[in-house]
Amino acid sequence: MRRMLRRRTGVLLVVTALACCWATGDARAEATPADATPATNAAAPAPPGAGPEAAAAEPPPKLVGDPAKGATSAALCAACHGADGNAPVPMFPKLAGQRSDYVAKQLRDFKAGHRVDPMMTGMAAMLSDQDIVDVAAHFESGTVNRVPGDPVLVEAGQQIYRKGRPEIGLLPCIGCHGLNGEGANGAIDGGFPAVSGQNPAYVVKQLESFRAGSRANDWKGIMQIVASRLSDDDIAALSVYLNSLSRSSK
Ligand code: HEC
Ligand code: HEC
Repeated sequence: MRRMLRRRTGVLLVVTALACCWATGDARAEATPADATPATNAAAPAPPGAGPEAAAAEPPPKLVGDPAKGATSAALCAACHGADGNAPVPMFPKLAGQRSDYVAKQLRDFKAGHRVDPMMTGMAAMLSDQDIVDVAAHFESGTVNRVPGDPVLVEAGQQIYRKGRPEIGLLPCIGCHGLNGEGANGAIDGGFPAVSGQNPAYVVKQLESFRAGSRANDWKGIMQIVASRLSDDDIAALSVYLNSLSRSSK
C-alpha cells in the first residue's frame, strides 16, 4: 500500500515537473525573443532528458531573489507599474519599495488563481518561481513616492489607522502595517504589505474587494474582517492618508 502510494506520488511529481518545464518554456518563447532571455534563471528546470525524477525527488530549496535579474523582468511590468515601480495610473498599484515576500506571494496567488485580475493572471503565468523572487527583490529596492492629500481626510484616515475602533472590533492598521506603513517581511506567509504612498484609487478598490469578499487571498481572512468594519467614508479617508504616508523612518 505504502509502495503504491509512493509510486503514485512519484508519477504525479514527474508529470507536474514535465508540465512545468513545458509551460515555462512555452510562455518564455512567446514572451521574449530567444536571444533576449537574461531574465530566465540559471537554475531553470532541467532540460528534457536530464532526468526529471532527480528534480522531483527533493523538495525545492528556498529561492533567493536576485534584484539585478529581476530588473530585466521588470521591463515587462513598466507599462502599468511604472519604470521605477511608481505606477503613474491610479488604478495600478505602486510596487516601488513593496516588501519582497508580499510581492512574491501575490504573484504566486495570481498564478494559482487565488487572486484574480484579468491583466495580472496572464502576466504572472509567464514568470517562473525564480523569476518571481527576482522581480520581487528588484521592486523592494525601489523608493515609493508619497503624495500629500487633503488635511481633513489625512487626519481622519490617521485616526483609524493608528487607533482602529475598539467599540466595533476594528483593529488598528498600525499593528500589522507599521507606524509609517512600511509593512514587514516574514512572520506570516507573504508578510505584511507596505501601504505608504500607495495609489488611492487602487487602495479603495482593494479595501472594497476585501469587504465584498471578491479578494480573499488574505491570511486567515484578516483583511476581510478589517474591511467589513469600514464605511465608504473610512475607505476614502484611509486611501488619502496612506498615499500621504512617508516611509522615511524605515
Ligand atoms: C497591463 C497592465 C499590467 C502589467 C503589464 C503588469 N501588471 Fe501587475 N497589476 C496590474 C493591475 C491592474 C493590478 C491590480 C489588480 C487588482 O486590482 O487587484 C496589478 C497588481 C500587481 C501586483 C499586486 C500588487 C499589490 O500591491 O498587491 C503585483 C505584485 C504585480 N501586479 C506585479 C507585476 C509584475 C511583476 C509585472 C511584470 C512581470 C506586472 N505586474 C505587469 C496591471 C499590470
Ligand atoms: C492583523 C493584521 C492586519 C491588520 C490589523 C490590517 N491589515 Fe491590511 N493586510 C494585512 C495582510 C496580511 C495583508 C496582505 C494579504 C494578502 O496576502 O494578500 C493586508 C493587505 C492590505 C491591503 C492591500 C495591499 C495591496 O497592496 O494590495 C491594504 C490596502 C490594507 N491591508 C489596508 C489596511 C488598512 C487600511 C487597515 C486598517 C483599517 C489594515 N489593513 C489592517 C494585515 C492586516
